[in-house]
Amino acid sequence: MKPILLPGLAAAALWLAAGTAQAQVDPLQVRSWAASCANCHGTNGQAQQGNEPLAGVGRDELMKKLMDFKSGAKPATVMHQLAKGYTDEQLAAISAWFAAQKK
Ligand code: HEC
Repeated sequence: MKPILLPGLAAAALWLAAGTAQAQVDPLQVRSWAASCANCHGTNGQAQQGNEPLAGVGRDELMKKLMDFKSGAKPATVMHQLAKGYTDEQLAAISAWFAAQKK
C-alpha cells in the first residue's frame, strides 16, 4: 500500500504548492510588469494628456479591456499585441495593481 500511495501524495503536494505559488504573485514582480506600460500610459498609469490613464480605473474594467484586446474583441493598434504577451493571471495581477494606484 505505502509505495503506491506515497508517490501519489507527493505529486498532490507538489501540485498544490505550484497552485499556491501561481495564485500569490510577488508584488515586486507585478510592479515590473506594470512598469512596461509606463512608456505609453505614464508613470504608475498616470497618463499625460492624449494617452489613456490606467491609475485608479476599476480592476474588473481593466481586466475586461485587456482580455478583449487579447481576444481581438476590442480593436487596437498596439494593445492587442501587448495583451497577448501576458497570461490571464498576469493581466489580472496588472489590473489589480493599476486599480490600486492614485489617479
Ligand atoms: C507602445 C505603447 C503602449 C504600451 C507599452 C501599453 N499601451 Fe495600453 N494602450 C496604448 C494605446 C495606443 C491604446 C489605445 C488602443 C490601441 O490603439 O491599441 C491603449 C489602450 C489601453 C487600454 C484601454 C483604455 C481604454 O479605456 O480604452 C488599456 C486598459 C491599456 N492600454 C492597458 C495597458 C497595460 C496594462 C499595459 C502594460 C501591460 C499597456 N497598456 C501598455 C498604448 C500602449
